[in-house]
Amino acid sequence: MSEKSSLGPLNGPHLTKLAEAVANLTQSELIWASGYLFGLAQSQGAAGGITPAANAVAAPAAAQPSGSLTILFGSQTGNAKGVAESVKAQAEARGIPVSLVAMNDYKPKQLKKETHVLIVTSTYGEGEPPEAAADLHAQLKGGKIGKLFGLQFAVLGLGDSSYEFFCQTAKDFDAFLEKAEATRLQDAAILDVDYRAAAESWSATFLDKLASTLTAAPAATAVAGSAVVAGHAVVGNSAYDKFNPFTATLNTNQKITGRDSTKDIRHFEINLEGSGITYQPGDALGVWFDNDAAVVAEILSLAGLTGDEQITVSGKAVALSDALTSQFELTRLHAGFISGLAEISADESLKALAADKDETRKLAANAQIVDVLKRFPTKLTADQLAGLLRALSPRLYSIASSQAEVEEEVHLTVGVVRYPQEDGSVRSGGASSFLADRVAEGGEVRVFVEHNDNFRLPANPDTPVIMVGPGTGIAPFRSFIQERDAQGAEGKNWLFFGNPHFTQDFLYQVEWQKYVKSGLLTKIDLAFSRDQANKIYVQDKLKAKGAEVWQWLQEGAHFYVCGDANRMAKDVHEALVNIVAEHGGKSAEQAEEYVNELRRAKRYQRDVY
Ligand SMILES: Cc1cc2nc3c(=O)[nH]c(=O)nc-3n(C[C@H](O)[C@H](O)[C@H](O)COP(=O)(O)OP(=O)(O)OC[C@H]3O[C@@H](n4cnc5c(N)ncnc54)[C@H](O)[C@@H]3O)c2cc1C
Ligand SMILES: Cc1cc2nc3c(=O)[nH]c(=O)nc-3n(C[C@H](O)[C@H](O)[C@H](O)COP(=O)(O)O)c2cc1C
Repeated sequence: MSEKSSLGPLNGPHLTKLAEAVANLTQSELIWASGYLFGLAQSQGAAGGITPAANAVAAPAAAQPSGSLTILFGSQTGNAKGVAESVKAQAEARGIPVSLVAMNDYKPKQLKKETHVLIVTSTYGEGEPPEAAADLHAQLKGGKIGKLFGLQFAVLGLGDSSYEFFCQTAKDFDAFLEKAEATRLQDAAILDVDYRAAAESWSATFLDKLASTLTAAPAATAVAGSAVVAGHAVVGNSAYDKFNPFTATLNTNQKITGRDSTKDIRHFEINLEGSGITYQPGDALGVWFDNDAAVVAEILSLAGLTGDEQITVSGKAVALSDALTSQFELTRLHAGFISGLAEISADESLKALAADKDETRKLAANAQIVDVLKRFPTKLTADQLAGLLRALSPRLYSIASSQAEVEEEVHLTVGVVRYPQEDGSVRSGGASSFLADRVAEGGEVRVFVEHNDNFRLPANPDTPVIMVGPGTGIAPFRSFIQERDAQGAEGKNWLFFGNPHFTQDFLYQVEWQKYVKSGLLTKIDLAFSRDQANKIYVQDKLKAKGAEVWQWLQEGAHFYVCGDANRMAKDVHEALVNIVAEHGGKSAEQAEEYVNELRRAKRYQRDVY
């Protein structure tokens, strides 16, 4: 029998020791200790006298209610994080003990000690988890955590129904936890892009159910769950956010690709003066935009409307043309628009297309609202048109500056999205063309910072960094290098950059040359894919320098990737695993595990889109 389990009220010497131990405690420390002791007593009752872990003691008010909620979020662009923060605030308002943790700050084995968990996650790629959720997802998928009998859980998923694998990651977590024999408190929420109201009502119901189960939960394990993770504060240090943006001034709009480039890439400088907004290298800037007046006019004409019609949006009456300009998504097409239009339209070819999911998805990825209306002319009422559209979403851009260098400015590197059409006209991306063509220098732009703790320079300035950022993926590395410069960081810096042509597409060439000359940029490797007969990409450059990359990793280097998610990031990942296998003398499986370990240690970070 352990010493603690023999501790009873009649055991005089122990009580004397206890009295001595608490003699000098302050009143608040005594209150804390009483909660601790209550938790101990509860755990002995519930778990047959097992001594709780030492780290199970951090929550002062452990006694009531017995159990707590841990919210784990996996978010890439901030939506799931925003929902998770809002559920936390609602839980706190109801007196529910709650902690909020980014999944990549969470030790998966900790799940065993939780009483109640809410998973809030988005989905990426082809039904893949966001970066931050990858490890927890893999561990649960592989059954590595074991059974979770005592755990009560629910899952809230954010996604986009235009994608084939809608909210797949949320569905996965829901299934994994069920398989681990945890108890589902509420059916998973599977939410589309207009998720705000649905998330709020689902959360309210969830918290009702949770509150009713809390007192039945074993206290000490619950305290352990929240105590360990309570230190992970979620960063967010601005009065402005997605739904309350700051109206900033666009100071500079400069094309930084050559006249003959196939790409139109702009450098933007935005003035944040008066906002108090701060950001760190690795963060992104959210940009709200207005749709192009010409596109609005074309849509109105195709639908047989004037734009003066009044509609109601979020409970407010507004002229249709104003709503189309600033409240509805017109450039990003979604499958629901096509199927919805097919229901209204008499066009048999449209109905046939909408019945074919693959065809619908293909069209949605390669056209805009206006193109569909042009191809399938349909007269609509203002309410019908509004009913088919989704709310406008701001776009995110990796920040390309450090405040240590530019103070109250923020810089962006934006590729302007343009699709030449067969008839000679050009369709453009909503936000990138707004910044490039529709805001004059000195004009206004509504912005907010989306903090990203999953893409950060090493805390130790002596740590070497390898940065892989082809195309606009270069943006955060300009910010990183400015920051390292201002810090006087001693750590080595290695940049891999690529684009089609040296003469046309070497973004920020003069700046990189300056950093090479000063010695701050230790190495730079360039992959100009079309400057020779065979295409060369950053992943090829990485492979060619494999031995040295491995050497840097051995020295503790952090490895960063930014830019295209679909191909580049996958190829670079593969190259990294191959380098580890070849130069580290590992099997494919060991190399994959090594890279996973780098990710867990936050030494392999990606900002890909
Ligand atoms: C975290 C993060 C960081 C990012 N950082 C950067 C960055 O630093 N720099 C950068 O440039 N971008 C960055 N992006 C991407 C950026 O957010 C936008 O997605 C991008 O600028 C395109 O937005 P848009 O509004 O201009 O185009 P959208 O309006 O979003 O897109 C145009 C739409 O046109 C449609 N379409 C497709 N093909 C055709 C066709 N052939 N004809 C007609 N229409 C077609 C599609 O429906 C497509 O969605 C980042 C994204 C994320 C998530
Ligand atoms: C490149 C990309 C890929 C995506 N892939 C999917 C997908 O496969 N399935 C899905 O349901 N949603 C997908 N989405 C939509 C996101 O899950 C959705 O926007 C979500 O609200 C993002 O939440 P977050 O900001 O917390 O990451 C994708 C979004 C992007 C930008």
